[in-house]
Amino acid sequence: MCGIVGYIGNKQALPILVQGLRDLEYRGYDSAGICLLHENKIERVRAVGKIDNLVGKLKDSNYPGTLGIAHTRWATHGGVTEENAHPHVAMDGKLAIVHNGIIENYRELKKKLVKKGYKFTSDTDSEVLAHLIADYYSTLPQPLPSQPSHEASAGTAREGNSSPLRGEDKGGGENTLANAVRRALSDVRGTYGLLAVHADHPDQIIAARLGSPLVVGVAEGEHYIASDVTPMLAYTKQVTFLDDGEVAEISRDNLRISNLKDELITKGTMQIDWDQAKAQKGGYEHFMLKEIMEQPTVFEDAIRGRLDMEEGTAHLGGLNISEDQLRDLKRINIISGGTAYYAGLVGKYAFERLAQVPCEVDFSSEFRYRDPIVDKKTLVYAVSQSGETADTIMAVREAKRKGAHVRGIINVVGSTIARETKAGSYIHAGLEMAVASTKAYTNMVALLLLNALQLGRLKHVNVATGKRFLESLLEIPGKMNEILKQAENIKKIAKKYAHYKNMFFLGRGVNYPVALEGSLKLKEISYIHSEGYAGGEMKHGPLALVSEDFPVVAILTRNQLFEKMKSNIMEARARGARTLIIASEDDEEAKEVADDIIFVPKTMELLEPLLNTIPLQLFAYYIAVNLGRDVDRPRNLAKSVTVE
Ligand code: F6R
Repeated sequence: MCGIVGYIGNKQALPILVQGLRDLEYRGYDSAGICLLHENKIERVRAVGKIDNLVGKLKDSNYPGTLGIAHTRWATHGGVTEENAHPHVAMDGKLAIVHNGIIENYRELKKKLVKKGYKFTSDTDSEVLAHLIADYYSTLPQPLPSQPSHEASAGTAREGNSSPLRGEDKGGGENTLANAVRRALSDVRGTYGLLAVHADHPDQIIAARLGSPLVVGVAEGEHYIASDVTPMLAYTKQVTFLDDGEVAEISRDNLRISNLKDELITKGTMQIDWDQAKAQKGGYEHFMLKEIMEQPTVFEDAIRGRLDMEEGTAHLGGLNISEDQLRDLKRINIISGGTAYYAGLVGKYAFERLAQVPCEVDFSSEFRYRDPIVDKKTLVYAVSQSGETADTIMAVREAKRKGAHVRGIINVVGSTIARETKAGSYIHAGLEMAVASTKAYTNMVALLLLNALQLGRLKHVNVATGKRFLESLLEIPGKMNEILKQAENIKKIAKKYAHYKNMFFLGRGVNYPVALEGSLKLKEISYIHSEGYAGGEMKHGPLALVSEDFPVVAILTRNQLFEKMKSNIMEARARGARTLIIASEDDEEAKEVADDIIFVPKTMELLEPLLNTIPLQLFAYYIAVNLGRDVDRPRNLAKSVTVE
């Protein structure tokens, strides 16, 4: 979703901001803009479409400013036009803002500002912030205009840069711009990740957060600000995540964090261990393919140090719940969205089978509004790659309000859900850049399986069964590699299906969520209409759609539902459907119902999703490549969905 980048330091800001925007491209966007500040003047450039369009419009690529803010916009209010792109500049041309989130009461604020004579040039909700801050700024006592002082401050000795709070506390009362931002935000209802700069404050960026993530990277004589850590990985690993309600006054040598009432907040930095190489394609044509191929390795990262082979159980530090409380649980809820939701559905099978605790899986966007029955005997798992999905954040808060134990299963370290749940497990999938999630899904499933095993071992599962489970888990990376070796073959099969307009994905039992995930992967990156269904449901309606133009991709691995699933496939074939079958290795019987077949190694039934999803990821990927789609950045989609 929208991306924010800001830089203040001693280097030329423009290349850092442009690269920062490119680093955030993966989040999804439809326009972009930059604002640079130099010699008490603001320069703004905006463009619709790719970052290259923006770069093409820059008159002076050597623009000397060392302070700037930039933005990639994913349209919510107002169409995709240059006028609606950020930064938005206030009427006097001196104040500029970039904003992520939604200002819910923008109509009423706009009305008031229009009455006061402010002229709006966009259809966005964000523009009200520029005028509102400017309006408050004009009413506050002004400090003496400050001179650009970055040259003077270059190389100034400072105390260790591991502390975010450096220098004296010069903020608060003295800081007109920060105070204007504070006042404006007190009038606002909605969410924001906001950066504001002012031509008369060439030593300062003001950042504020409520509901939309912002991270400040701390380095010698400079600060990087962004929606996530990717734009700063090349420069610093020391970061501070802003929390909701915080305002940061950021200068070259100082970072002051306070709340809307200007009460000082003391917080430290944390070390990020991702490196920039992980944000590169590493020789692959697309991030998605790279991330599919990484699955065996990152799966090992997910389980490393968490298996107790002796006791046949998993050790999951950070759960923050006693064994007695775990034994006493009456219910498990999993909340998530999209691919994380399908991982959650796999988790349901595992929790019910291994731990025999009823488990419900909800879309986070629905959970909060259905008045869920959760209490202190409920364990809620919030599953999210980004840890910033607004729906899931709101669902987490609802579950906490109702007294449930809430645990995160999260990829991005330090993300909002990770911080708000305070307990749970990181999935260690590493940086996932492609919008379509692949390796994060696998690792979410891995963590849910480990949680289910741990709970199962506290209840009904005996040590021998636990050990067998773990032994099978350890074989998974090797088996994943066997599937990945078939990429060329899957590419050839994909070519045969690329011209279809519709497709079904069918599975049963633990492979039903796999079918749903396969279908989601295909539709989101190829734009082919596809439906994921439980095989047994076809005869209750969807079968009417099946014809020779509507092929079926079905998961028919050797498990307890093999015969039933095979019958469902035959029903589709009898109506003329072409069939692509995912089958267990050497399964001659599966060939009987297949026009095309991909073999996967055998494993325990509960672990099948870890393998069976991979050929479907590759299938979707190669179809999308075949159709010339923008695989890593599919249209209309965003990597991190920070609006409800
Ligand atoms: C699909 C995809 C999305 C995300 C969903 C949740 O490939 O990536 O469906 O899974 O938006 O995102 P997170 O996991 O960040 O909460």
